[in-house]
Amino acid sequence: MLQRPRRNRKSEVIRQMVQETHISAANLIFPLFIVDGVSKKSEVASMPGIFRYSIDNLLREVEACAKLGLMSFDLFPNIEESLKDRFATESHREESLYLRAIREVKKNFPEVCVVTDVAMDPYSSDGHDGLVENGEILNDETLEILGKMALAHARAGADIVAPSDMMDGRVGYIRRVLDDHQFTNVSIMSYSAKYASAFYGPFRDALESAPKFGDKKTYQMNPANQREALIEANLDEMEGADFLMVKPALSYLDVIKLLKDNTELPIAAYNVSGEYAMVKAAAQRGWLDERRTTVEVLTSIRRAGATSILTYHAKEVLEKGWI
Ligand code: PBG
Repeated sequence: MLQRPRRNRKSEVIRQMVQETHISAANLIFPLFIVDGVSKKSEVASMPGIFRYSIDNLLREVEACAKLGLMSFDLFPNIEESLKDRFATESHREESLYLRAIREVKKNFPEVCVVTDVAMDPYSSDGHDGLVENGEILNDETLEILGKMALAHARAGADIVAPSDMMDGRVGYIRRVLDDHQFTNVSIMSYSAKYASAFYGPFRDALESAPKFGDKKTYQMNPANQREALIEANLDEMEGADFLMVKPALSYLDVIKLLKDNTELPIAAYNVSGEYAMVKAAAQRGWLDERRTTVEVLTSIRRAGATSILTYHAKEVLEKGWI
């Protein structure tokens, strides 16, 4: 035998020498849930180790993460039911929990990167990502609301706005609104290929944002489709996106690879709540080795072609020295 691939696996040093894929703190974005009030820190039942923080504790958490080299955060608000309405008015109210949180994080830690979620669902009395009329999710009317949200986020100090709503034309619309208001330096990370996935369940528990009727299949993509992701990705790129995101990640590694091969833009992947919950649940029962499973999941997402990963594992893998 001239070729014996096992020779390159014979020692730890050689294995590391030929390792193709690495994960570092710089690649990770940590999603954080926020809730109104003071000194609050409540664990999400379906996401062990993940908490909803009031702003004071959010700042402590950001500081602790920054000490570990984890510098990018994606914020999501849990909004009281009484503040929700059809138009998600709370999403662009100056003194809203979310806008205060962005301002506080950027004021206290100007060097961190704040990614903000642009979608109506946490603020919508319908629990949908768009404006609802007669059971239908309106597209163009929703864009106006998303534009107001993105602008409010930019004014509060967001570094990157991330539209997660899957309305048609939203990247171009938001880019125009930001540019018209001199926010040419605010980036757009588009949830380009966002699938109508069962893996978002724990996230909706965390935010209490599940749709009040129906599902999200008229705007989020069918999990059976791959080529359709290219249509979405091409549109987002033409409309001015700075990053393209695939979500979820683990069941969609083929989509990550496909986009990687078809764009020069950086690809982000969202290792979503349900993917996190699966690993945690199995680990708690002793059915999976948590450390090895977690590192393997993140490595696979990077290997498929994701430059950055939004993951609930971000802090833990650094704290425990797993990566
Ligand atoms: C809402 C949004 C969702 C997630 C991120 N932004 C849920 C949804 O679309 O219903 C899910 C993230 C996760 O599951 O971790 N626009």
